Amino acid sequence: MTTTGGLFISFEGIDGAGKSTHIEGLAQAFRAQGRAVTLTREPGGTPLAEKLRSVVLNDTMDAMTEALLVFAARRDHLQQLIEPALARGDVVLCDRFTDATFAYQGGGRGFDLSILSILEQWVQTVRGLEADFIREPDLTVWFDLPAEIAAQRLAGARTPDKFEAQPVEFFKSVSDGYLKRMLASPSRFVRIQADNTRDAVWLDVLTAVQGRGWLP
Ligand code: TYD
Repeated sequence: MTTTGGLFISFEGIDGAGKSTHIEGLAQAFRAQGRAVTLTREPGGTPLAEKLRSVVLNDTMDAMTEALLVFAARRDHLQQLIEPALARGDVVLCDRFTDATFAYQGGGRGFDLSILSILEQWVQTVRGLEADFIREPDLTVWFDLPAEIAAQRLAGARTPDKFEAQPVEFFKSVSDGYLKRMLASPSRFVRIQADNTRDAVWLDVLTAVQGRGWLP
């Protein structure tokens, strides 16, 4: 059985975890089933949020400023792009969402998780047919990669941005942040061992989506 209503899937992991090709692969798989797919990313996805992305990825600032900017970008992204796409019945595939804020600003930079939770409630409350609710992905695919392997993958790649230039310890804390989020919402998450071969990782991604009945 495949769903015809909107579907919201986010993809997470530390820098170098290799999400991109699999997001593209899933987009193709859904399109092959006749589904309309909205491919997007955070921070970003709208003209305003892309401007904020450039600031967040390049300018030095304290962790609270960073958190406020990514949530401001998220608010615009939800209102302008994600909610309308879900209302049309699209499959929304989003490269990172709020778990990244808990992992990077919370885990990596040590910002207060309870304040992030408050911002999450503020920013992601949307009007439902019967009651307001907090928008979360229907599924979050976490590409879990040991920080040391990610560092090897990133070394020698293009010029690193502010986050990619962080030391291995930072990414270990980011991974811990993802783990906490997964433990808090286990049914929303699928954790994939991203140090396997690309084919094996793809099979895991596909199996997770098929297991929910969203792809045949
Ligand atoms: P990324 O998604 O890795 O894009 P690219 O592959 O083009 O580099 O880059 C986004 C960066 O922003 C990544 O290092 C994680 C960071 N980030 C945060 O710190 N907080 C957030 O809330 C989000 C969404 C991303």
